[in-house]
Amino acid sequence: MGVPVNDRRPATPRTAIVTGGGGALGSAIGHRLAQDGVTVVLADIDLDAAERAAAEPAPGSGGALLARHVDMADPASVRRLADEAAAELGGINVIVNNAAIQRRGGLRDARAADWDAALAVNLRGPALLCAAAVPYWERQAGGSVVNIASRVWLSGGPPVYVAAKAGLVGLTRSLATELGPLGVTANAVAPGFVPTEFTRAGRDAAELAELAERNRRITPLDRVTEPADVANAVAFLASAQARCITGEILHVCGGAQLAPLPG
Ligand SMILES: NC(=O)c1ccc[n+]([C@@H]2O[C@H](COP(=O)([O-])OP(=O)(O)OC[C@H]3O[C@@H](n4cnc5c(N)ncnc54)[C@H](O)[C@@H]3O)[C@@H](O)[C@H]2O)c1
Repeated sequence: MGVPVNDRRPATPRTAIVTGGGGALGSAIGHRLAQDGVTVVLADIDLDAAERAAAEPAPGSGGALLARHVDMADPASVRRLADEAAAELGGINVIVNNAAIQRRGGLRDARAADWDAALAVNLRGPALLCAAAVPYWERQAGGSVVNIASRVWLSGGPPVYVAAKAGLVGLTRSLATELGPLGVTANAVAPGFVPTEFTRAGRDAAELAELAERNRRITPLDRVTEPADVANAVAFLASAQARCITGEILHVCGGAQLAPLPG
């Protein structure tokens, strides 16, 4: 038997694209990968946020952080990101699909436009970004995809957001089967509640504190997940140490995936 193609990829990846790289988790993931010596493109619809994240000091960092614009809802913008990053960095090793938008209402509140917007950013964009990377993965020795899902894919909850995240889990499994022969692993990291702009938006401080407390109560490890917890899981799945892991969903939420969503 020959050497599996993903055994020929470097022990640490050299280049990565992290979408939503201007946000809390995206920035933490980018800095964590850079610590491993990876050159990371932080891509975001909010270029200023990505630039601020890229400029943050990274203690002990070996890799560089670059900021680029992308609108994950726009197929042309997604393709441009892949092609320009590959040209600039000499290839793409890792894609972290982390950008997402939130839609909180119930079924009766969700308009067609809400479905279209969330599915475009949270599901179609990640699929198109991976498709755009295929020619580069074909030319090099494999790569990896880490999709940032959410533990709500199991519990249910606001239907637009949950359906998009459950779809991302399904996409992860499809990518694992289709891209495996190219030496590309595809896994998902599913965080629980992390206090960030994403969870803060539309809530006042008291509501947010109450939500954090309700989440803590249903979390077996009795702790709140931090961006660094998510970033460490992503760095592992992107590394050669995870070369034989694909199609998996790694919950990073202190065990909260075992509980129903707090009301
Ligand atoms: N914070 C949580 O509690 C939590 C829990 C589970 C899963 N997640 C997931 O983690 C990921 C990151 O969340 P976060 O908490 O860091 O949120 P965040 O709001 O801090 O970051 C999200 C980033 O995505 C960017 N973005 C939005 N639309 C975009 C588009 N069309 N194109 C490109 N970029 C776009 C935003 O500008 C922002 O910088 C999301 O996928 C989210 O669903 C978060």
